[in-house]
Amino acid sequence: MPGAIYAEGLVKTFGDVKALDGVDLDVPEGTVLGLLGPNGAGKTTSVRCLTTLLRPDRGKAVVAGIDVFKQPDAVRRSIGLSGQFAAVDEYLTGRENLQMVGQLYQMRAKAAKARADELLEQFHLADAADRTAKTYSGGMRRRLDLAAALVVSPPVMFMDEPTTGLDPRNRQQLWDVIKQLVSGGTTLLLTTQYLEEADHLAHDIAVVDHGRVIAQGTSDQLKARTGGERVEVVVHEREHIQAASALLDRFSLRGPDQGGTKVEEHMRKITTPVSGGAKLLAEIIRELDVRGIEIDDIGLRRPTLDDVFLSLTGHAAEAEGEDGEQPGAGQSGTGQGRPHRKEAAT
Ligand SMILES: Nc1ncnc2c1ncn2[C@@H]1O[C@H](COP(=O)(O)OP(=O)(O)O)[C@@H](O)[C@H]1O
Ligand SMILES: [Mg+2]
Repeated sequence: MPGAIYAEGLVKTFGDVKALDGVDLDVPEGTVLGLLGPNGAGKTTSVRCLTTLLRPDRGKAVVAGIDVFKQPDAVRRSIGLSGQFAAVDEYLTGRENLQMVGQLYQMRAKAAKARADELLEQFHLADAADRTAKTYSGGMRRRLDLAAALVVSPPVMFMDEPTTGLDPRNRQQLWDVIKQLVSGGTTLLLTTQYLEEADHLAHDIAVVDHGRVIAQGTSDQLKARTGGERVEVVVHEREHIQAASALLDRFSLRGPDQGGTKVEEHMRKITTPVSGGAKLLAEIIRELDVRGIEIDDIGLRRPTLDDVFLSLTGHAAEAEGEDGEQPGAGQSGTGQGRPHRKEAAT
């Protein structure tokens, strides 16, 4: 039984650009898949193919049990789409925008009005409901766009970079709304450039690069693939590097020639892969103490999604800069990529 969103071998070329090079996806009903990848990886093209906006050259796609290429109209009635390029009408008020969507879906005027009020409340737009969307800030437009996608509570939702360009507070607010939505049983495919967004919202993460899914799993599974936990020790005296390194070797999961203990001389730092968590850490500290090796720092480091991304793609994930609450902000798709680091968990 394929999931609520299923794709097999999707290929799409634009001229000589292969935007999709055989994308496979399977999203079980009621779960969230995070499609994670750098600019140009093929995220938006995947979403556009799955939502009937674009016809792939090859492949198969089934959404909510319906064949996307044979019955696009039926698919459209079963999905909600919140785009990277918001579908908000500037010259209508927030309330009118939402009511219009309801009417497009053939809701009765009264029901459409009630639904609009509910969503305006939920998305903190009630105060601005009767202003034209033209006067809205970037964050407010995003929220209106998302609300518009939810007018008919579709069983399957697609969100293309829903929080790109938002400031952290607005991003957090949207995450809360998305979580609420998903707890109601909606299946969601969400694309993002933000590693912690995928970590936070998605059950499963598919890493996309150059039009292909290069890895898929839960955040923990992907992190485990990247090599599990490590101990990092920074010794106080340069002369102690040797002794500390020999000691860490004894606890290492791997030999020095198989990616085991690593020494960074200039930082007086020694790292080795281990398993055993805090208990092992305590033992290492005792042993260092017994040998009179003074340390400046010691910690357990687990791989972050950043490490996963780096090891899979050979380059760091990039995210667009935050452009805050400027009216009309958050619509541009050009990535002035600023490297985005997630703090390492120690
Ligand atoms: N309409 C189009 N015409 C030409 N090239 C396109 C078009 N849409 C996307 N592309 C190209 O396809 C690749 C994937 O783009 P896209 O799916 O938008 O990536 P992402 O959403 O991951 O940033 C990029 O190289 C992009 O330039
Ligand atoms: Mg995109």
